[in-house]
Amino acid sequence: MGLLDQQVAMVTGAGQGLGRAVALEYAAEGASVALLERNPETAEAVRQEIEAAGGEARAYPLDITDYDRYAQVVADVIAWKGQIDVLVNNAAIALYGTILNDTLENWRKQIAVNLEAVYMGSKLVAPHMVARRYGRIISVASIQGFASSGDAGPYNAAKGAIIAYTKSMAVELGPYNIMVNAVAPGFMRTPMSFVDGVDETTTPDFEEWYVRRGKVPLRRTGLPEDVSGTIVFLASSYCRYMTGQLLVVDGGLMSTF
Ligand SMILES: NC(=O)c1ccc[n+]([C@@H]2O[C@H](COP(=O)([O-])OP(=O)(O)OC[C@H]3O[C@@H](n4cnc5c(N)ncnc54)[C@H](O)[C@@H]3O)[C@@H](O)[C@H]2O)c1
Repeated sequence: MGLLDQQVAMVTGAGQGLGRAVALEYAAEGASVALLERNPETAEAVRQEIEAAGGEARAYPLDITDYDRYAQVVADVIAWKGQIDVLVNNAAIALYGTILNDTLENWRKQIAVNLEAVYMGSKLVAPHMVARRYGRIISVASIQGFASSGDAGPYNAAKGAIIAYTKSMAVELGPYNIMVNAVAPGFMRTPMSFVDGVDETTTPDFEEWYVRRGKVPLRRTGLPEDVSGTIVFLASSYCRYMTGQLLVVDGGLMSTF
């Protein structure tokens, strides 16, 4: 018996990092998983990994800002399984810069993937959830949604908006037994943590400040597997009276100063 037996889940950005960890864990808990990912190779690799472990998954290569294609994928998942129980809005991009040197183009790109596609993906699956009076929408925000590293304004603006929009959706969809929650990871070691080719979670400065001096009280960088369990919980029957909430999964980073 898995925590997500008989569930059908769609995970965006499922080809690597946190999305891959969520997809693998969902499948291991019994869910059928639709892997929505712009990189067809990584999507297929995760699909094969899930199948090799005895799980069920389909790869759906798409750019989540292509809404015609996104609508088609939702229709395909419904044709495949007849239902969508869980949407995990995970895919995002980070383009670094400050208000002094960044561009409007970069702002628009990040708002499109990190925020607008969360709205559109949720809008596309919500009617199917409403019809069955059941659903879970889980969006991946970030601690950058309420605290800033000073070099990622548009990314942070999108993440902050996800936290606010999670509450709006929770209120609007609550009458239909659809729970909408968000997760804010702190530092996670994924391909996204590479900045200019350097893994920001392994630099001497990071080790000194966050690990040795305990700015991260748990004294280590998070791994995707440290966050994916929380996203399993939010989809599971252990979560049944909680909506509109943000769960911070950051090793304690935001609890100290
Ligand atoms: N890595 C961190 O330290 C960290 C911290 C806080 C929050 N987060 C959040 O966690 C989530 C996952 O991040 P990650 O670190 O695994 O990132 P990642 O870059 O390793 O993986 C993101 C995945 O999303 C896919 N993707 C990006 N744009 C897409 C698009 N338009 N259409 C379809 N797929 C697309 C990418 O191809 C990639 O497979 C993101 O929402 C990110 O903002 C990450």
